[in-house]
Amino acid sequence: MRIPDSFLDELVARSDIVDVVGGYVRLTKKGNNYWGLCPFHSEKTPSFSVSQQKQIYKCFGCGKGGGVVNFIMEAEQLPFVDAVRLLAQRANLEMPETGEAQGVREYRKRLLELNREAARYYHGVLRSPEGAAGLDYLRRRALSPATITRFGLGVAPEGWDNLISAMAERGYSKKELLDAGLVVKNQQGRLYDRFRNRVMFPIIDLRGEVIGFGGRVLDDSTPKYLNSPDTVIYNKSRNLFALNLARKSRQGHLILTEGYMDTISLHQAGFDCAVASLGTALTAEHAQLLSRYTGEVIICYDGDGAGVSAAQRAILLLEGAGLKIRVLQMRGAKDPDELIKTQGRAAFAQLLEQSENHIQYRLDRLKGNYDLTDDTQRVEFMKEAVGLVASLHSAVEREIYGARAAELAGVSAEAMAAEVKKELRRRIFQEKKKQERRDLAPAQQMQPRERSLRYENIRSARAEEGVIRLMLLSPDLFRQAAAQGLEPEQFSAPVLGKTYRLLRTRWEQGLQVQLAGLAGELSGEEMSHVASITDQPESAAHAVQALRDYIAVIQTEAQRRGGGDQIALLRAAQKKYKENKSYGGS
Ligand code: GTP
Ligand code: MN
Repeated sequence: MRIPDSFLDELVARSDIVDVVGGYVRLTKKGNNYWGLCPFHSEKTPSFSVSQQKQIYKCFGCGKGGGVVNFIMEAEQLPFVDAVRLLAQRANLEMPETGEAQGVREYRKRLLELNREAARYYHGVLRSPEGAAGLDYLRRRALSPATITRFGLGVAPEGWDNLISAMAERGYSKKELLDAGLVVKNQQGRLYDRFRNRVMFPIIDLRGEVIGFGGRVLDDSTPKYLNSPDTVIYNKSRNLFALNLARKSRQGHLILTEGYMDTISLHQAGFDCAVASLGTALTAEHAQLLSRYTGEVIICYDGDGAGVSAAQRAILLLEGAGLKIRVLQMRGAKDPDELIKTQGRAAFAQLLEQSENHIQYRLDRLKGNYDLTDDTQRVEFMKEAVGLVASLHSAVEREIYGARAAELAGVSAEAMAAEVKKELRRRIFQEKKKQERRDLAPAQQMQPRERSLRYENIRSARAEEGVIRLMLLSPDLFRQAAAQGLEPEQFSAPVLGKTYRLLRTRWEQGLQVQLAGLAGELSGEEMSHVASITDQPESAAHAVQALRDYIAVIQTEAQRRGGGDQIALLRAAQKKYKENKSYGGS
């Protein structure tokens, strides 16, 4: 569907980029721009900038950039139209609808209703004689009636088609049941219920919609848990169990567990900030999601080997999202659920209290990898520990954890501090060198990151970039450009020619001449590149002269390249202008 440009302009005007990005990234104002940690790649020092004046964002680290719509497309991983819809909702604008988009939306709504009906059904079974065994199981796991209700738990009864018939009675088709992942098709093409004889955990998203289910067996058979597959309404790497509840918690942090049962037990014991991933490993998207609701995450994984390595992976992902991290070390039980059940909530509260900055946790793990009675291994341990400590941002933390690392390695705190200082200096030096390389290589820097956009003619491309900057600065210059016969076809870089043409069309139609309005027409890579060229200064004061010079360069280069063709084009363009002096006027 094509969204009218005028609607897009209205939307962009009502969606200030600093506000929108601020919902995802903590921004600090420095000079003319706002800065923060890039949400699109992992980093520890901010290289992500937002310009309120130009209404664009740009990351100097990963190169992503664009207007407010591009930001939402990238941050929410949405196609253009859906990103526009999301912003429209936020800005309270009525979305212009067309058939296809509407159809998809209706279908999603229908599947959500089906899931809700299924959750109601499973919950109903729990309260019926057929659900007695399931209810009994949940009681044995010490869940109170209030908890069962709060989490909407249920029971899928024994039998192949209980849900199919119950939902058919409510008017849902087999296709809908299949698409929601509630039924499975066997090799003969027969449909049967996916969840049978299991206790059911509905997965509820932040809007309160039931998007999927997990189901556990009542005994030791396998598989222990069955989960809904990813569907059009369920994406496991973008949702977390119980986040709908935990986000309202006042604890100031979130507790991340591995299991549904762990999270439910914690809530029941009063730790209402617990969440769990959905039977999959944590993803970078989960980390971003968490960072939207808290500044600190406490990892609370199982104490076994699998839990430890999962925790180490999680640390890296959470760090990448700029979160403060603590790690709770499970002692005396295999997981939080068991700990609370056998030792009570106070025991858990104590472990929580003792949970340490992740550096301590990593130092402990590191220690486990080396035999510290062996001198060579001790040196290796030192090297790694120094790297860890040097990665801390605060000097106080570096001192504290430096001293602990020294103790583990059996060296003096001073020796350790000296090594850390050396490492820090090395890192700063490297960073500076990298920056110098960037500054000293303008020709190379001129090239778009994206290979497919590489410039063939740097001289011309530089002038083309200048033209685009000028037009964004004062769109009336399109009149002068037309008088000089500048046409998009004369541009050497296709991406710049295309941008010029799109901006000019906007000007001709009396629309805002701004990059944010091109989100539907430029690809993500193209947009990122164009956003990055708007960075260099361009003065409005000498704009007329500057534009004349740029156009001269572009046209000379075009002539050299294309010979007669280009000259003919130029003449035609000039003639067109003379015939119609009010070309493009308002
Ligand atoms: P309980 O035995 O009920 O206490 O389970 P738990 O919550 O302690 O889960 P466990 O640590 O065994 O597993 C953690 C999470 O991994 C579960 O909550 C499920 O999401 C998932 N999981 C566990 N077993 C399976 C399985 O057999 N298949 C799938 N797909 N996921 C599983
Ligand atoms: Mn468990």
